[in-house]
Amino acid sequence: MKHVLVTGGAGYIGSHACKALQAAGYTPVAFDNLSTGWEEAVQFGPLARGDLMDRASIDAAFAQYQPIAVMHFAALSLVGESMSDPGKYWRENVTGAANLLDAAVAAGCLDFVFSSTCATYGDQDGVVLDEATPQMPINAYGGSKKAIEAMLADYGAAAGLRSVIFRYFNVAGADPEGKIGEQHRPETHLIPLMLDAIEGKRPALTIFGSDYPTEDGTCIRDYVHVADLVDAHIAGLRWLEEGRGSDVFCLGTGRGFSVREVVEASRTVTNRDVPVVEGTRRAGDAAALVCGSRKAVDVLGWRPERSTLPVMIADAWRWQQSAGYEH
Ligand code: UFG
Repeated sequence: MKHVLVTGGAGYIGSHACKALQAAGYTPVAFDNLSTGWEEAVQFGPLARGDLMDRASIDAAFAQYQPIAVMHFAALSLVGESMSDPGKYWRENVTGAANLLDAAVAAGCLDFVFSSTCATYGDQDGVVLDEATPQMPINAYGGSKKAIEAMLADYGAAAGLRSVIFRYFNVAGADPEGKIGEQHRPETHLIPLMLDAIEGKRPALTIFGSDYPTEDGTCIRDYVHVADLVDAHIAGLRWLEEGRGSDVFCLGTGRGFSVREVVEASRTVTNRDVPVVEGTRRAGDAAALVCGSRKAVDVLGWRPERSTLPVMIADAWRWQQSAGYEH
């Protein structure tokens, strides 16, 4: 049995990765402190309850399950919070990763898939973002992820660690079978907040800034379906297992949508009114983040087939109306 240690396995992306791992014949071990994750989302393998700030709990998980690889999703990931409380992000994301890497090396588990982000690029107006683009983060969240990317190179040189780094654009949607989906405490993401507003669970969606230098004044993001995203992780894991070395891949579709376009698409998919109010900009937001790379498609054979706005919104909408969704 091939165990894979999935940190943050009870969270949004981590739980979808666990499902994909199980479908691909691995046994995912969800390592999670359940601070923001959901025990009910751990459906595809065992839960190893532990904390990346507690090295002994990580060592215990390696000892019990002898994983062949690590997928590292666990992190604080709120851009706004990282602006107001940067120390928390630097401490927990970076120290947590160092503890995990030390434990992995000590256990001889040297294949590592890392969840990084387009937030490492910062705000580079008009620049096509790909793997070669200089990383200039404008928030502590992106800064902490960039630091971990650098750590992976150092652990590669020092201990022979092999890593595949994925820089995500905006992850959206839910499990097409409806078993798991997106829910955060607190929720800060555009699509779940908007669908809650459509259902009357929140008074309205606030558009964070309509004076950006974009066509309709709202921020542009490149949305990628969570099911497609985790497929790339399986390809990344196989890449490592085949001994093809360390590499970095951007995961986005190359097509950006403004907040207003997402609102319009949701109106169409749900056939309901979207209550919207216009607010001020949110600190730390870049005007536009769009992936300019086809490397994951060309090299890993990645096919992001569900990553269209109607499919992502429809899958999220089905999930948010299901019994599993707790808001
Ligand atoms: N937005 C609103 N109103 C809201 C929430 C969001 O207008 O109530 C806007 C944001 O300003 C942004 C877009 O919708 O322009 C998407 O916002 P999300 O919060 O859904 O996503 P982010 O782009 O902030 O963050 C995501 C990931 C981060 C990652 C980041 C990279 O959640 O982990 O992309 O920018 F770092």
